Amino acid sequence: MGWITVNIGLACLFSMLCCGKGIGVNWGTQASHPLPPETVVRMLRENGVQKVKLFDADYAILKALGKTGIEVMVGIPNDMLASVGGSMKAAEKWVSKNVSEHISSNNVNIRYVAVGNEPFLQTYNGSYLKITLPALNNIQSALIKAGIGSQVKVTVPLNADVYASSNSYPSGGDFRTDIFDPMLSIVKFLNDVNSPFTVNIYPFISLYTDPNFPVEYAFFDGNASPVNDGGTLYYNMFDANLDTLTHALQKNGFGNLPIIVGEIGWPTDGDRNANIEYARRFNQGLMTHISGGKGTPLRPGPIDAYLFSLIDEDEKSFDPGNFERHWGIFYYDGQIKYPLNLGTTNSGALVPAKDVHYLEKKWCVMKPSARLDDPQVQQSVSYACGLADCTSLGYGTSCGNLDARGNISYAFNSYFQKNNQLDVACKFPNVSEITKTDPTPAVGNCKFPIMIQPYYESAGFRLRCCQKPLSLVSVLVLILVTIL
Ligand SMILES: *[C@@H]1O[C@H](CO)[C@@H](O)[C@H](O)[C@H]1NC(C)=O
Ligand SMILES: *[C@@H]1O[C@H](CO)[C@@H](O)[C@H](O)[C@H]1NC(C)=O
Ligand SMILES: *[C@@H]1O[C@H](CO)[C@@H](O)[C@H](O)[C@H]1NC(C)=O
Ligand SMILES: *[C@@H]1O[C@H](CO)[C@@H](O)[C@H](O)[C@H]1NC(C)=O
Repeated sequence: MGWITVNIGLACLFSMLCCGKGIGVNWGTQASHPLPPETVVRMLRENGVQKVKLFDADYAILKALGKTGIEVMVGIPNDMLASVGGSMKAAEKWVSKNVSEHISSNNVNIRYVAVGNEPFLQTYNGSYLKITLPALNNIQSALIKAGIGSQVKVTVPLNADVYASSNSYPSGGDFRTDIFDPMLSIVKFLNDVNSPFTVNIYPFISLYTDPNFPVEYAFFDGNASPVNDGGTLYYNMFDANLDTLTHALQKNGFGNLPIIVGEIGWPTDGDRNANIEYARRFNQGLMTHISGGKGTPLRPGPIDAYLFSLIDEDEKSFDPGNFERHWGIFYYDGQIKYPLNLGTTNSGALVPAKDVHYLEKKWCVMKPSARLDDPQVQQSVSYACGLADCTSLGYGTSCGNLDARGNISYAFNSYFQKNNQLDVACKFPNVSEITKTDPTPAVGNCKFPIMIQPYYESAGFRLRCCQKPLSLVSVLVLILVTIL
């Protein structure tokens, strides 16, 4: 018995000292019907997740994370960079309200502040180029001034597009030429204050944007023919991408800067390559790769990474693609999509959210008597899809095999559920009706979801209510559609 105890003791000590602590998760909240924070925190704990990354500093979420020991990365959204970068006072206020208070009054284990989110993304057109470093600087000073500079580190999650390779091998890695100077200043700053470089890596996007991308190279099964970089072999894109960054850092004199993978994952819907099978394969391969502890050829050892993401978010912009609302390892309601062993629990099985409250079992569908060529139909579908979520329709998606009527019903139902099953949200003129018969097809993965009861807060009160009023604008537009 004795030696077992000692061994377990040593193992615990090791896991406490070492950086491991298992995989982290991103917890995003751009959802029409988010689960209550307490429900999500319970789910995190039951799944043995010990690190979570947020995109802002939501009071209720941080409160729910208090006294759990879960390591937290809080985030400053890009639209706040100018204010905290432009004023030391604003930075101090942000740190006081969104970090210090939570640590001192509620024992939230905040370890990082993510200053901005992918601020150098090309779509932002350089808007945050000049303000990111001042924001980092001010937040760092504010943390020190608040006396928590050694326990809370600053970082800035950057997309992997901030670097590129001149020879298409990792060894050619360097920072993008158009942002070379700002990148160098940021890297130097992170190095000076002992903070990690955070990078988001997306093999899925490579496959999505480049039809010639070798599919197997996106995964971890070792089935791709390796890329030979001067004798170093790369069997998957993830390793090659991380080492491209390490080469870029080395080339500029920062070869030892720690790296955090801020986002990594695979979506399950919205594109022919976004499906349950690929997502399971990618994420399980990643878990095995990370827990194997081998690291990458240039950086052997543990990899510190955060899965993207925990739960689907039905209000994310689908500008990047219809897959954008389907990154979760759990559906919007905290239910399991596919088996995944995170390596954080004894059973190795995911645990779904508990005590989830759904709306009634009813759906809005196309009236059987309505005609497909009724001009109301197309108009109503466009309206519903514009305000609700039709990203599971289309070629190669979970509901891509629905017939024309199924398609229309899907759109109507999505709008109806998003508006908490209000009668008025199923009044597409003459073409829709409410039904208690589940329209979900018997075969395949297509689901006609029922929403969960809305959860929202006002002035500190938690309301679990049954009907959130339609916004005035939606009502007006609906009336307009009815009249036209
Ligand atoms: C704290 O964070 C929240 C959420 O991101 C933000 O709305 C708020 O303005 C921040 N507080 C201060 C004082 O900056
Ligand atoms: C991006 O910047 C260029 C040059 O400053 C400007 O002409 C263009 O309108 C900007 N685009 C957006 C979307 O901000
Ligand atoms: C269903 O809708 C999708 C996306 O709106 C469209 O691509 C597809 O052709 C539609 N299918 C039918 C049978 O109308
Ligand atoms: C609805 O259908 C009825 C009968 O089929 C028809 O008289 C009426 O004009 C229709 N209303 C609209 C708004 O299309």
